[in-house]
Amino acid sequence: MDTSEFIDLPEVVSARGCVHLPGSKSISNRALLLAALSEGTSEIRGLLASDDTARMREALCRLGVDVAPAGHDVWRVRGVGGALPIRRADLFLGNAGTAFRSLTAVLALAGGDYRLSGVPRMHERPIGDLVDALRRIGADIAYEAREGYPPLCIRPATIRPGGVLRVRGEVSSQFLSGLLMALPTTGAKTVVEVTGELISRPYVEITLSMMARFGVRVERDGWRRFVVPGDAYRSPGVFAVEGDASSASYFLALGAIGGGPLRVAGVGRDSVQGDARFAEALERMGARIAMGPDWIEAGAPEDGGLRGIELDGNDIPDAAMTLATTALFATGPTTLTNIASWRVKETDRLAAMATELEKLGAAVEEGADYLRITPPAELVSPPQGVDTYHDHRVAMSFSLAARGVPLRINDPDCVAKTFPGYFARFAEVTRAVPVIAVDGPSASGKGTIAARVAAALGWRYLDSGAIYRLAALAARRAGIPWDDEAGVAKIAAELDIEFGEASILLAGEEVDEAIRAEDISAGASRVAALPAVRRALLFRQRLFRRAPGLVADGRDMGSVVFPDAQTRVFLTASVEVRAQRRYKQLIDKGIAANITPLLLDLRERDLRDSQRSVAPLRQSEGAHLLDTSNLSIGETVAQVLAWSKGASG
Ligand code: DC
Repeated sequence: MDTSEFIDLPEVVSARGCVHLPGSKSISNRALLLAALSEGTSEIRGLLASDDTARMREALCRLGVDVAPAGHDVWRVRGVGGALPIRRADLFLGNAGTAFRSLTAVLALAGGDYRLSGVPRMHERPIGDLVDALRRIGADIAYEAREGYPPLCIRPATIRPGGVLRVRGEVSSQFLSGLLMALPTTGAKTVVEVTGELISRPYVEITLSMMARFGVRVERDGWRRFVVPGDAYRSPGVFAVEGDASSASYFLALGAIGGGPLRVAGVGRDSVQGDARFAEALERMGARIAMGPDWIEAGAPEDGGLRGIELDGNDIPDAAMTLATTALFATGPTTLTNIASWRVKETDRLAAMATELEKLGAAVEEGADYLRITPPAELVSPPQGVDTYHDHRVAMSFSLAARGVPLRINDPDCVAKTFPGYFARFAEVTRAVPVIAVDGPSASGKGTIAARVAAALGWRYLDSGAIYRLAALAARRAGIPWDDEAGVAKIAAELDIEFGEASILLAGEEVDEAIRAEDISAGASRVAALPAVRRALLFRQRLFRRAPGLVADGRDMGSVVFPDAQTRVFLTASVEVRAQRRYKQLIDKGIAANITPLLLDLRERDLRDSQRSVAPLRQSEGAHLLDTSNLSIGETVAQVLAWSKGASG
């Protein structure tokens, strides 16, 4: 699989539209397991295609269950009627908590030899409460490494079902869910009592409602006592998976901070998922919410902005993470309480969220089980990007910050745990700050044209050539030769530059003249040919794309730096005309000049810029070609403006 180091999100100006949600992870993995344990064949429709569900499918196949595709997001599971055919298996479950906990319970009661392991983080996530409960009815489970944590080894044992079984509820509700789903396979009625506070209760409701769909009705007395019958699971025939309510939270929040209306299709009023109640939290912040049986829509408040709130996040631990970044766009602080379970998820989410929110400029108070977020006056975009800790929800939560600032998100592919197409959907429903990219060879007039177009529109202007010139100048001053790729790239990454109203500053010093000197021009062309230097300067250029718009000129604005630019123009003029223009510029400045060397120099630079291996100068596909040899500046500006007007349509 292709993996990328980062994704650069442009600043988002608005969000609206409709997202068809992928299937719920919690429901998908329960459906697979229950269908496998059932009598009869089940057709599961809308199953989530993601890492976590793939781990569950693979595990079931290894255990001898026939799980086969039967159409787009449809899977056919031939139930084994309680007894898993394979009695010895080594299962790798990645970081899928839903698969790990429920399979531990089922296999501990199955009478075989099994080993369950996962990624290193899975081995740091506690499972002792579940193992203790299972041992009480005779299960033989050993910790392979650290007491209380995976990997686990299960051996055949005499199970003594019936009676009362106790399990602790305050670390993860998945321990209780796993037991509830596994116990009917013993064939005896068992009472489960929860000791301590039961967290994340809505997930237990999902478990109970799904067990009922597969023919096993659990009676419960509040959240303390559950009577699990020893009935056999029976396939409901067709089972349709709801859209994922946690995945919905990002788009609902986007609607609330980006205008909306933004609709999610697949969860609504009739949802069994607790996270559907995230919409209520957004509403408390001031968002406009509308809801149907299987859809929810969010928009910005009618008047004023979002307000910070205090929320007990215990029932919606996953969606509450989305509130932590939505809080960046609210007035006043937001406090999320009762979220200690965040510490034992894909990463220590309390620490991760606090660290990354602070990088964006927020003031964060991180308690043992709470987070208080005070938004900054202005968001900061960390130059090294937002780190995601192999945690899909950290990545998706932080994508919201792009509403305020262009943002780099590291390891974006981690979203595949539950939502492989997340960033594509994100791009579909958001409108980014518009860009007009003006590329072309030296002295084609790009700078003049781009600056005037920017002034006419009231947009920002980026002279990307100046950045390469600054890198060349900074390298020279630091005594780093222009062909030292790593050395210059380091200088480029650390460039202290400021584009002021009237001048360009390098380390606080005005350098407008210095970067235009002939030798620095040559140096710029040299350092611009080094891939590491171009990489180091990429995000820095993208940071110029701020509302209301950007006009950028250079060589690769429309092809590499802003490939999604609404308007792309490739400006040229014959080399003779360009030499004439440069000659006139120099004479006007009172600098003696000669046309022949100017011609030679331009030819040489054209060659280097167009033949280098990275981002060579060429008209990118879809760019408007404009030969300005016979056009005035005014005519050229008018043409670019007309194209841009057409593009914004
Ligand atoms: O546009 P300019 O002459 O100021 O550019 C200086 C050098 O930087 C030029 O040799 C080409 C290079 N450059 C580049 O490679 N990519 C850009 N986007 C802009 C400039």
